[in-house]
Amino acid sequence: MMNDSDKIDPKQLVEEYKDIPPMPNVMVKALSVIKNPTTGIAELAKIMQTDQSISTKTLSLVNSAFYGFRQQITSINKALVILGMMKAKNIIMSLALKQMMTTQGSRDLWEHSIKCAVASEIIAKEYKIINPDDAFVIGFLHDIGKILLNTKNPLKYSKVRYLAQQGNVDLVDLEDAQFGTNHCILGAYISKKWQLPVILTNCIRYHHDPSQSSLPTVCGIVYCADRLVKPTMPAPVFEPKVLSKLEFSIADPATLRETILAKASIFLKEISAPS
Ligand SMILES: [Fe+2]
Ligand SMILES: [Fe+2]
Repeated sequence: MMNDSDKIDPKQLVEEYKDIPPMPNVMVKALSVIKNPTTGIAELAKIMQTDQSISTKTLSLVNSAFYGFRQQITSINKALVILGMMKAKNIIMSLALKQMMTTQGSRDLWEHSIKCAVASEIIAKEYKIINPDDAFVIGFLHDIGKILLNTKNPLKYSKVRYLAQQGNVDLVDLEDAQFGTNHCILGAYISKKWQLPVILTNCIRYHHDPSQSSLPTVCGIVYCADRLVKPTMPAPVFEPKVLSKLEFSIADPATLRETILAKASIFLKEISAPS
């Protein structure tokens, strides 16, 4: 259940950030067709077949070790049947948002988003928290708000990210100080404007502090995923105030990180290859 603290306070949104990019068209189409299970697969196939890059990359991904299917899959229709609509939709989303994330954000943002998506999927599956395909979407979109800060002032934002990476200051605090808002608030705003599910908006809003969320365990998936895939794992890996609110506990973060990064690198390789 959502409570009042989950709503975005309009006062937290600085007027100058209200211009958000529209959701890419191919993603809008993919989201609308998966709502209809009877025609969904055929419609998704149509979307994929009209985009050469999406169909090529989907086929190479479905034949890669990421999914580990035994047989060779050579047609999009067969790939969709084997993958299922939710996974196919997630591949479309990853590719559809690549351009926005890399040009309005950075290449690092896109790669980090893929890693976090894969990590969230693995955590959700391992601890049986939510549907792993839904967790992938949450992980993939968690930092989407960064594109607004980066678009606003790329130089200032790269300095903020650099300072935060040095490890002395919290990124969200720095963003608040420098921009008057932060990527969690802005990301939740984008999610709301794109009419994405409420649970997604909540997780984006609180992914740096799930203890503030009305859904701490679900939000905790992306919190843990985010920290596990950072270039260097933070110390402590997970904060005690968050851990106490989660209904799962990761016993061996270092081993989980290795598994996640190995899987994410296959995903990245297959969908980054020139088509
Ligand atoms: Fe973040
Ligand atoms: Fe992140």
